[in-house]
Amino acid sequence: MKLSPLIIGAVTTLSGQTWAWGGFGHITVAYIASNFVSPKTATYFQTLLGNSTDDYLAGVATWADSVRYTKWGRFSGPLHYIDANDSPPSYCGIVYERDCNPSGCIVSAIQNYTSQILDPSLRESSRVIAAKFVIHFVGDIHQPLHNENVARGGNGILVTFDKTKFNLHHVWDTSIAEKLVPGGRVARQPYAQAKHLADQLSGQIVGGKFNESSRSWLEGMTLADPVATALQWAVEGNAHVCTTVMPQGPEAIRDQELGSDTVYLKNALPVIELQLAKAGYRLAAWLDMIAAAAPGNFKTDDFSLPGGSDL
Ligand SMILES: *[C@@H]1O[C@H](CO)[C@@H](O)[C@H](O)[C@H]1NC(C)=O
Ligand SMILES: *[C@@H]1O[C@H](CO)[C@@H](O)[C@H](O)[C@H]1NC(C)=O
Ligand SMILES: *[C@@H]1O[C@H](CO)[C@@H](O)[C@H](O)[C@H]1NC(C)=O
Repeated sequence: MKLSPLIIGAVTTLSGQTWAWGGFGHITVAYIASNFVSPKTATYFQTLLGNSTDDYLAGVATWADSVRYTKWGRFSGPLHYIDANDSPPSYCGIVYERDCNPSGCIVSAIQNYTSQILDPSLRESSRVIAAKFVIHFVGDIHQPLHNENVARGGNGILVTFDKTKFNLHHVWDTSIAEKLVPGGRVARQPYAQAKHLADQLSGQIVGGKFNESSRSWLEGMTLADPVATALQWAVEGNAHVCTTVMPQGPEAIRDQELGSDTVYLKNALPVIELQLAKAGYRLAAWLDMIAAAAPGNFKTDDFSLPGGSDL
């Protein structure tokens, strides 16, 4: 049987599950973070990552997606999300013990790799990998469908977006965020476009619509309890599933058009903007905390890190 291009497109969409913000989202988050980290933090991570350019975070932001389907990286697949066993839209919520896979989830992974960056007994190559995972997972945890079990984070719900079939997960990873780019088309190498959006959102944090609320975005963050910190981010992302991703439940959006000129897109765009801005701003603060606690970077008695590197 000869498949028509349309069917091939749909099959690719179904099997090519992305399970992650598209590269554009991750790179945007990384550039926002680079705008807010302290100079000492920038130097610390530029040294660790071996890249002293302004792109030191953006350049590694999608690395975790590039390894997850390799033999070496297969273990990391489930670390990109947490499967909240909730029931949108009537009940959203995450229970860590119930929802975190025994072999790990995004919340435990943020803890694990944060402590590895700070573990002087590890080889530098392992600490570099840990940094790349943290930079990626802080982005992913802000995508609402990375905190959702229904239809495998929306991968099993087909919708159309500007007349093209996609799964819902892809729409929230990529399609909606691409609408924030002038012209709506994201290049294969989206660094310049992502930097532009990152600078716009950073401006909203410093002196625009996010100035007031951004103060509260850092509440509850503590290196002493990375699980509680990341869980709070996951719960917030998950809440958007009930209000905006599936406001009338999963069946109501199946096969629906969610793109241009829809109420759905109008409601989704501000959520994507907010989550990108939060992710970048929080990533900066998290990297600041890590760099401040890093052995050798500062006098250790300046910082109390309960349990030392055994986070
Ligand atoms: C730093 O990262 C950027 C973005 O990935 C890359 O283009 C550049 O070549 C890197 N520079 C070095 C010295 O590795
Ligand atoms: C932490 O990460 C290491 C390296 O990837 C992995 O071997 C280990 O199982 C992880 N531990 C937990 C508790 O997730
Ligand atoms: C918000 O605006 C105030 C007043 O201009 C400024 O001092 C503060 O630093 C801004 N907040 C952020 C997060 O930049």
